[in-house]
Amino acid sequence: MQLISTKICKTSDIGINNNLFGGKMLQWIDEAGGVMASSQCCTPNILTLKMYEVIFKLPVKVNEHIRIYGKVKSIGSTSISLLIEARRFDFLKQTEEIVCSTIMLFVKVDKNGKSSPINPQLIEKIKKSINKN
Ligand SMILES: CC(C)(COP(=O)(O)OP(=O)(O)OC[C@H]1O[C@@H](n2cnc3c(N)ncnc32)[C@H](O)[C@@H]1OP(=O)(O)O)[C@@H](O)C(=O)NCCC(=O)NCCS
Repeated sequence: MQLISTKICKTSDIGINNNLFGGKMLQWIDEAGGVMASSQCCTPNILTLKMYEVIFKLPVKVNEHIRIYGKVKSIGSTSISLLIEARRFDFLKQTEEIVCSTIMLFVKVDKNGKSSPINPQLIEKIKKSINKN
């Protein structure tokens, strides 16, 4: 998977039970997914259409570093689907654990906000890279 971004859990990000607020994690993964979808489709004009089941597998505490990874699952004419994983990094052990994961669907849009075709050459390139992995 490709590292998209790293976040630090701050005191202002905490909800109840001294855990990272789930809505904050959703914001982080939405933004990271959007960045990856834009970069894959070579356009900033990308909207989140769908977030599939989201699993908050482990709690995140203040000061923990969260690395957000993505991988292209599939690509259509106007949409791209990504597997997104947020992993907690343990500095002492130098290991990562998945704290949250989901699949997200992004759509390329035109200036009127309507779905718009992704460049067919890019689609072919992305399809080939999916088949390789
Ligand atoms: C994104 C948006 C423009 C898509 O509009 P739409 O009328 O569904 O567009 P289309 O019917 O042309 O579908 C676009 C793509 O999404 C896919 N799609 C549409 N609804 C889907 C659904 N419920 N599940 C999975 N895929 C879906 C279509 O298959 C198509 O993919 P493809 O071209 O790769 O085959 C529109 O839904 C929108 O503006 N949504 C708000 C987005 C937003 O503001 N997001 C921020 C979060 S609030």
